[in-house]
Amino acid sequence: MAKKRVAVLISGRGSNMAALIEAAKAEDYPAEIVLVVSNRPDALGLARAREAGIATALVDHRPFGEDREAFDRALDDQLMAHRIDLVCLAGFMRLLTAGFVARWSGHMINIHPALLPQFKGLHTHRRALEAGVKRHGATVHFVGFEMDSGPIIAQDWVPVVEGDTEETLAARVLELEHRIYPQALRLVAEGRASPFSSAGESTAQ
Ligand code: GRF
Repeated sequence: MAKKRVAVLISGRGSNMAALIEAAKAEDYPAEIVLVVSNRPDALGLARAREAGIATALVDHRPFGEDREAFDRALDDQLMAHRIDLVCLAGFMRLLTAGFVARWSGHMINIHPALLPQFKGLHTHRRALEAGVKRHGATVHFVGFEMDSGPIIAQDWVPVVEGDTEETLAARVLELEHRIYPQALRLVAEGRASPFSSAGESTAQ
């Protein structure tokens, strides 16, 4: 079967993007990363993608001002131009319009640094420490209409240990993110995870 053509959308350092690029080098990996899009010109990940020989596009959100529809159309144009099958959000710090989410429904996934449905939104590590949870982790999910919502594809956890700071906890979770994101993309690209089946069904195979 032909490899799925994947775009990774980033806003920052792009370590999850790099993990996906690395995984996709394997001959038997069912997806290839053909495009990296950033909404910020200074995103470190853009340089990393270029070094890896991957096409990059900048869709700067600033000229669009409040017009999210127009920004999302510009994003969509890039995805169409590169004949993208699947979109991976990886630290992409923009809220997407309902129209865009609907258009890519079932073909767009996100990684969130918490055990969803716990700690949606920002500062998840700080909030996990404040809540005193013993386990914290990361989730890959299909992108739904609400922020950090949608059917879960993969999830894993790490212990929260005595003396943890936001930084130490974030680093422990990040390692796990780099492991589960490529696994989740594989499941989706192989058609083994669908937004219409429960997380149990999609990860049990
Ligand atoms: C990751 O923790 C990801 O889960 C979150 O934003 C961070 C992005 O890091 N959505 P990176 O750009 O992939 O290094």
